[in-house]
Amino acid sequence: MLEVSDMHCKIGAHEILADVSFSVSTGEVAAIIGGSGAGKTTIIRALCGLQKISNGRISIDSHEPKRGDYGLVPQGCCLFEHMTALQNVSYAPMAVLKFSRKKAGEVARKMLAKFGLEGKMAAYPSGLSGGQKQRVAIARTLVMNPKVLLFDEPTSALDPEMTSDVIATISDIAANGMPTLLVTHDLATARKVSHRIFFLEHGKIIENRKTAEFFSNPHTERAKSFLKNSAYID
Ligand SMILES: Nc1ncnc2c1ncn2[C@@H]1O[C@H](COP(=O)(O)OP(=O)(O)OP(=O)(O)O)[C@@H](O)[C@H]1O
Ligand SMILES: [Mg+2]
Repeated sequence: MLEVSDMHCKIGAHEILADVSFSVSTGEVAAIIGGSGAGKTTIIRALCGLQKISNGRISIDSHEPKRGDYGLVPQGCCLFEHMTALQNVSYAPMAVLKFSRKKAGEVARKMLAKFGLEGKMAAYPSGLSGGQKQRVAIARTLVMNPKVLLFDEPTSALDPEMTSDVIATISDIAANGMPTLLVTHDLATARKVSHRIFFLEHGKIIENRKTAEFFSNPHTERAKSFLKNSAYID
């Protein structure tokens, strides 16, 4: 379980996150939603240690997180364009875990096959569809065996069919036990894939609710108007 309590983040005099507390259980998918500039990406960056926090406690399974506990699938995939799918996925096991080329290739092949990419091992990113690229990016993250999975805008560049494909992939991974946290602008994605919604406004979580309840009956005026403006209220 990922547990975050009382997380604050200041940039200059500006408080970007204030008193952010939440938990994501094993097998659960939580979605952080909220308007532009609310602090969604900052939460993900703070968890990964890319953004310093001024206060707060974070734990994974009651332990202080270590480097490598988080698997981040960044926005827009960021695959290495000059490497094949197989090379993209086997790179970190070789560079970070010091696996031999043979062993790294084996784990990478297995992981790509799990995502239905057997036929794309030798393809370069330019020869892959958006959904396939996203699946390679997920495989590249999972091959490092993280304890918590983080996604920043996993479906932002995808058409509806590829979006469903990626949503199914995320649901499968989480069902296998990994706490999963995603940040998204796409309310339809959040609604389909997540069990819980953290609704963020000015760096504060102002609603932390089960997904179905949040969408059918938002409590705060801000969430009501956010859903209404997104044409997304029942
Ligand atoms: N390095 C930085 N220096 C100064 N301000 C920053 C920095 N990073 C983020 N901010 C500010 O922090 C706030 C939250 O930014 P963040 O990127 O987390 O928002 P977001 O919710 O992800 O927005 P979007 O939906 O547009 O991606 C914004 O007001 C942003 O301008
Ligand atoms: Mg963002």
